[in-house]
Amino acid sequence: LDNGLLKTPPMGWMAWERFRCDIDCSDDPENCISETLFRDMADRLAEDGWKELGYEYVIIDDCWMSRLRDEQGKLQPEPSRFPGGIGKLARYIHDRGLKLGIYADMGTHTCMGFPGTTLDKIELDAQTFASWGVDYLKFDSCYSNPLEQMLGYPLMSKALNATGRPIAYSCSWPVYVGGLPPAVNYSLLGEICHLWRNYYDIQDSWDSLQGIVEWFSNNQDDLQPASGPGRWNDPDMLIIGNFGLSVDQARSQMALWAIMAAPLIMSNDLRNLGNIERAILQNKVAIAINQDPLGIQGRRLLQEKSRIEVYWRPLSHSASALVFLSRRTDMPYLYHTSLAKLNYDAGNYEAYDVFTGSTVRGLNATSEFTLSINPSGVVMWYVYPEKDAVMILNLSEQPA
Ligand code: GLA
Repeated sequence: LDNGLLKTPPMGWMAWERFRCDIDCSDDPENCISETLFRDMADRLAEDGWKELGYEYVIIDDCWMSRLRDEQGKLQPEPSRFPGGIGKLARYIHDRGLKLGIYADMGTHTCMGFPGTTLDKIELDAQTFASWGVDYLKFDSCYSNPLEQMLGYPLMSKALNATGRPIAYSCSWPVYVGGLPPAVNYSLLGEICHLWRNYYDIQDSWDSLQGIVEWFSNNQDDLQPASGPGRWNDPDMLIIGNFGLSVDQARSQMALWAIMAAPLIMSNDLRNLGNIERAILQNKVAIAINQDPLGIQGRRLLQEKSRIEVYWRPLSHSASALVFLSRRTDMPYLYHTSLAKLNYDAGNYEAYDVFTGSTVRGLNATSEFTLSINPSGVVMWYVYPEKDAVMILNLSEQPA
């Protein structure tokens, strides 16, 4: 949706994958879906260096609502868990220089059974969110049919626009109709939504992550052209810092999400994050690649018999990113290749290794080089023409 918002993929934090529908605030006060959780995460984003890197959205997912709309038919938060109300929470978040996202569902109920937004409620709910100071809406689609979705998603886009408040609009519509053309009309989505979920929910495992990457890559001819500034494919949340990924796998998610121009929306516990995971999520070059202003989604270039895969994304200033992913399960694999084999033009290049911080100099397109790629890990390169003596990115940061 070309209205000036989300010219680069959104960055921030979302409750769902890590905190789900935990509404048990008596037994689990620290982790239940409540205003405390969102204030805690806002504090962490503001105080632990996240905001400066671009992580700005704090997004409430399902299970924030009361079981009933109020007397005027408006959605309302569950008062025991959000005693201050959403407007007050929005002020808290805005006061820290951050933005607030919220969740609603096109249908009779949300996926977890809270009040849905049927067609007749769309304008009211958009107005309610705007009146609270909401900056981002995730509009899910449990409990509706394809016809209602076809009507509802464009209607919500109009209703958000009519509020006069800039509200980023994330549409889960494609997931509910299989994610691919002809059932999904990606040019229409690009006109009405800023981002959209295409595929199944991520779970806290490498298997789940691999399944998502595999689906996006297998269907990249349909998906990659749909993406661009103001219209992003969303392979779902970053799960780095939780229980399911090794350190190598965490680097793989960061690298692949950067190549895919994916939203960098973490779902983890920012109050308890390991230093390695934090450094991966705060890697400035990986973030700069994700946020490249050209906004061209990358592609899988190669699937080798050795189960090495190569991903590539073109970037501004004639630079590019390469990710070498090992799908092996044995030991670090020595992969031999050259830039020419990866379709680079003749010439001299340098490559900055995003996770080790070392620079490879004097690379001719035809020079053969060898990389060691850990099982379920990556090597990620930022590649630029050697003649661009001026460093395009500030690469002096601590790598992860
Ligand atoms: C669906 C969505 C998830 C999450 C849950 C909430 O499964 O895809 O991202 O919002 O609903 O119930």
